[in-house]
Amino acid sequence: MFRSRSVVVNISIFLLTLQGTLCLRNVQLLVPDSVERGSRVEMKCVYDLEQEVLYTVKWYRGDREFCRYSPRDVPPLKIFRIPGIEVDREATDSQRLTIQAATRTANGRYTCEVSADAPSFQTAQVHALMYVVDLPKSGPEMQGLKQYYRPGMKLKVECVSHNSLPAANLSFFINSEPAHKQHVWHRVGPANGSLWNAYSTIQFVVQKHHFIRGKMKIRCTANIYSIYLKSNEQCALEERVPTTPDSLPEINEVVLYPIHRMAETSDCAVKTCDATVATLFTILCHMILFINDD
Ligand SMILES: *[C@@H]1O[C@H](CO)[C@@H](O)[C@H](O)[C@H]1NC(C)=O
Ligand SMILES: *[C@@H]1O[C@H](CO)[C@@H](O)[C@H](O)[C@H]1NC(C)=O
Repeated sequence: MFRSRSVVVNISIFLLTLQGTLCLRNVQLLVPDSVERGSRVEMKCVYDLEQEVLYTVKWYRGDREFCRYSPRDVPPLKIFRIPGIEVDREATDSQRLTIQAATRTANGRYTCEVSADAPSFQTAQVHALMYVVDLPKSGPEMQGLKQYYRPGMKLKVECVSHNSLPAANLSFFINSEPAHKQHVWHRVGPANGSLWNAYSTIQFVVQKHHFIRGKMKIRCTANIYSIYLKSNEQCALEERVPTTPDSLPEINEVVLYPIHRMAETSDCAVKTCDATVATLFTILCHMILFINDD
């Protein structure tokens, strides 16, 4: 209590010495860090004038002033039009500015400059960045995950997020743990028009510890600033090879092999983990794939 009061006193003395009066404080520019192209955007420039009177609030995009609010002018609001930044007059006032539909031009740095009236004319400027984003139309896609893996097998999965600007940031998770950086490769490539695709590939040798109760989950998330986060998860099962190869059934005897048993129900989005139909055929297929891979 005593301490916080002494801080306030110190700040007051400082301001008194500096300006001769208590004045403009706590100026903040509240702008979303990212918005979808075409969306309506409200920005706020909040400030505390204390005993002072507002003179102007000026708004800049980059170095260019595009809007000014001066309460003593008639009308108080002036707009200096930048093509691509349409200000909604009805929803703009002394602390708020609204852009009707964010275009690519609206991407960039914004400044709000607040000035107090005479006698101090004290002025403060604050800045904020806003990214205008084209979001992907669909979530990330994953390819290449097999249904079964044995420790020692190579796993290679590609994840793609299509058509966005900027390209999405992709990350891989194995059983919800972030994948090792050295197992993941990223690249981006041009897509439709000015849009981009993001590609990531994860590759590693499967180990026993990658399976939790016989199951390994691979998730890819695509993320664009704070506005977009989508993921895709698939799972694979641990392939258990029969310990006594001699006991393999004859091909012409129709014997179903209940090798994989999952007690819990699967929460995998795409592939199901229900493996009761694992037949000898599946095992042979995987063995062939494995041989071909090397
Ligand atoms: C590019 O986008 C346009 C409009 O969204 C669409 O009609 C066209 O099929 C797309 N082309 C490709 C190659 O994806
Ligand atoms: C991607 O991640 C980097 C590093 O964290 C970050 O600086 C960048 O802004 C992100 N890009 C997008 C589109 O989210």
